[in-house]
Amino acid sequence: MKRHAKIDGPQTDRRLDGMAQGVLGQPLDRPDGPLKVTGRATYAAEVRLDRMVHGVLVRAPRVGTLNGFDTERVRGMAGVLAVLTEGLPRNSAQGAIAKSPPGNEGKAQYVGQPVALVVAETLEQATHAAWTLEVGIMPSIPVINPHAAPTEFPEKKQRDLGDLEAAMAEAAATLDETYHTPTLSSAPMEPHASIAEWDGERLTLHGAYQMLKFNRKQLAEALGIDPSAVRVLAPYVGGGFGSKLGISAEAVGAALAARMLGRPVSVVMHRRQVFEMTTRRSQTQQRIRLAADVDGHLLGIGHDALVSNLPGETFSEPVQQGTDFNYAAPNRKVVHEVARLNLIACGSVRAPGEAVGVTMFEVAMDEMAHRLNLDPVEFRLRNIPDHDPLDGKPFSSNMLAQALTEGAQRFGWRHQPPRSRREGEWWIGTGMSAAVRVNMLTESEARVTLTPEGRAKVETDMTDIGTGTYAILTQIAAEMLGLPVAQVETVLGDTDLPPASGSGGSFGAASSGSSVYLACLEIRSQIAARLGIAEEDLTLKDGHAIHANRTIPLSQILDAPITTEGHVEPGDSGKIARNATYGAHFAEVAVNDVTGETRVRRMLGTYACGRVLNVKTATSQCHGGLIWGIGMALTEELIHDPRDGHAVNRDLAEFHIPVNRDVPDLEVYLLPERDDWANPIQSKGIGELSICGAGASVINAIHAACGVRIRDLPATPDKVLAGLMQIES
Ligand code: MOS
Repeated sequence: MKRHAKIDGPQTDRRLDGMAQGVLGQPLDRPDGPLKVTGRATYAAEVRLDRMVHGVLVRAPRVGTLNGFDTERVRGMAGVLAVLTEGLPRNSAQGAIAKSPPGNEGKAQYVGQPVALVVAETLEQATHAAWTLEVGIMPSIPVINPHAAPTEFPEKKQRDLGDLEAAMAEAAATLDETYHTPTLSSAPMEPHASIAEWDGERLTLHGAYQMLKFNRKQLAEALGIDPSAVRVLAPYVGGGFGSKLGISAEAVGAALAARMLGRPVSVVMHRRQVFEMTTRRSQTQQRIRLAADVDGHLLGIGHDALVSNLPGETFSEPVQQGTDFNYAAPNRKVVHEVARLNLIACGSVRAPGEAVGVTMFEVAMDEMAHRLNLDPVEFRLRNIPDHDPLDGKPFSSNMLAQALTEGAQRFGWRHQPPRSRREGEWWIGTGMSAAVRVNMLTESEARVTLTPEGRAKVETDMTDIGTGTYAILTQIAAEMLGLPVAQVETVLGDTDLPPASGSGGSFGAASSGSSVYLACLEIRSQIAARLGIAEEDLTLKDGHAIHANRTIPLSQILDAPITTEGHVEPGDSGKIARNATYGAHFAEVAVNDVTGETRVRRMLGTYACGRVLNVKTATSQCHGGLIWGIGMALTEELIHDPRDGHAVNRDLAEFHIPVNRDVPDLEVYLLPERDDWANPIQSKGIGELSICGAGASVINAIHAACGVRIRDLPATPDKVLAGLMQIES
């Protein structure tokens, strides 16, 4: 039996608050944790198959027209089995678009583009041969500078409400500043890896992917076969952050080579290839305009963004996604411009849009608060809209005020003028910012089986990319079916199982969780029917049904296992109400007056994401977001060589993500909330919220500490020092 729900309006059922088992929301350890820390969880690159051989991708060394490969020499090298120069995708696909990316079509459109695959008996032989292969290219002049590139203005991303120019002319206080963020990389710890094996016409791919039902279609399309002939397995994924949303060249290359050779083929990206061949976050230029009255009420908001991508790609970093609804103002203008560049393809990187858009907007809000001589917390509180500022629809829930107020109180927020505190060489200051992030529901299916012995199994092709999916789906089933969590097994990451939402856009937990909830609801109804009672009156706990003073073991109710399916899909709910998540970040930094170095001393965040499914894994997500914020503010920048666009610092030694020593005590508080408009479990996304604006709290703290305003991320010591020298001269 299948239980289906299309979410067209509020889901007011509160049954999850009254269940007897009491495990949902608890800080359950990950069931997969012991496997991971003892090395027994097999990641794609660790898969070993009989007769398996190794492929290594070859990158385009420059931009231009492909002009033949020196394959003869390479084919004669020890162990070399094949050299593939056709059929590889130009760049990674975007996740939820079931369309494989454009092929190479005789062109290298960016340095690093995968243009060939060399396969050999051993990884060493394949690596040697791949490095030896000469790629013939008739060079052309690459377009690297977004200001000298052809641009487009996607119609759906422009906004014009009221008259911003008039508001700017008449306002008591205004701000008109331009900000820059650099190219950023997802930099997942696990490199992209695919092991392909054919059994006749059927392909099995062990991969590292986030959204299996789409990845299966993309791969089938790239190979010209039916999706039903493709099985993708990804039980464990070591981080994705968007870079594993859609298939990339290693998957297509492994599948093509395995078909050609009749042997399993493993293709694992080198760390440098992860930086070059998978999608990056676009660099952005953001002009932000604010107009306010004397009391600090915003009259106008303008946010113009220039982003980039390869020619022909539809994705463009949705920088202004949060600007649509973050603050109230009658006059609003958004200009979104995309430059076509010969650089690594752009795609979703953790919280596409808000991660950089909210961050720079929150820096502008801090600047504006100073111009108004207002506490920045108070300035934000004065501008929280009571309905969607674009079209007037209600908020499903808006917890920004609570997040700001509670965060300020817990942090011990005190507004001080810049350069008020000094300890030796160090200026000390505190900064804050708001967090906003859209919330989505995505179609998802799951199967749940309950046995008379009181064991349950949850099955779906959902992925756990380090987020805690195994834990939360186990908890939802245990809660609904009244079982200790040890009695519930969750099986994920296999396209032979019911198709889930996949992990992306922070919608995974709530979407796949809702499908598990619905499947369990169907099981509860069947148990209640056998007892002759209404499902609402059924209590399940520790493998027993409890009703009217009777406690009956499941074994007396069921004579065979019950298997059900749950299927959730979005309806009108998201169109009727603005659905989003909110939070606030606070940071204390020390800035060295001599070297310009910034050290984050502590950070605190308050977040509201509807029902919390597991307080430990949700908190871990927030820690991750705050750390991304530190990296974005201080160190992360993928540098493109201005001559040919190649990624200069394409490894973890030179692309500086924060390490332990860079991360101080992080305090996270999740605010109690139920969002009826979100889905049947009233839970919202948490994976991306805490990166949205986090870096701004650090940048604003730098200003509060030493008076230097950084508008060009990251705030490296050279930039801070230049600011200090200007102030002190
Ligand atoms: Mo996310 S950037 O949709 O993995």
